[in-house]
Amino acid sequence: MTPPRVAVIVSGSGTLLQALLDNAQGYTISSVLSDRADALGLERARAAGVPTAVVQLKDFPDRAAWDRGLLRAVEAFSPDLIVLAGFMRILGEPLLAAYGGRIVNTHPALLPAFPGAHGVRDALAHGVKVTGCSVILIDAGVDSGPIIAQRATEVLDDDTEETLHERIKVIERELLVDVVERMTTGGWQVDGRRVLLRR
Ligand code: GAR
Repeated sequence: MTPPRVAVIVSGSGTLLQALLDNAQGYTISSVLSDRADALGLERARAAGVPTAVVQLKDFPDRAAWDRGLLRAVEAFSPDLIVLAGFMRILGEPLLAAYGGRIVNTHPALLPAFPGAHGVRDALAHGVKVTGCSVILIDAGVDSGPIIAQRATEVLDDDTEETLHERIKVIERELLVDVVERMTTGGWQVDGRRVLLRR
């Protein structure tokens, strides 16, 4: 049997992607896509011999066309699971309609607190003493999908957004590697808002 194929979509430095590339067991990272041609994550993929695709908003007449372009690019790799690992855009309806329930996102806060593009900054500004990361299934809202797994870390008195985010990313990489392995090898079940990993 061929191992499940995972497509990873990134916008930035791609350290979460690197953790998946280094630790993929029982599945294959079969493609890496980005909305930015200069995303360091693309370099990481190329270094690992993984096919890449760039789908930039500026190359399309409008947002709706870009959404359809991203779907086409993803479909070309026929993934079984899609992982958004530091993808900084809202996913459009075409990809959701085609792959709904099979798209995972990772977020640097304990959802449902602090959704959106600045989860770490917002948690720090709010003064929480504990924050962390969440791996969720994507739905049509912003970071509002069912939660698959979470991990927590303390906020230290002298934390800046950068130091806190770096500490979160350490546990986030471990969590994402674990979740993707469990989803691809054991499967999962969604019961209302509860997601149960089968192994
Ligand atoms: C991660 O902390 C991820 O949760 C966050 O971007 C970082 C990517 O790190 N994503 C979001 O904030 C999405 N809203 P990386 O580029 O080093 O893998």
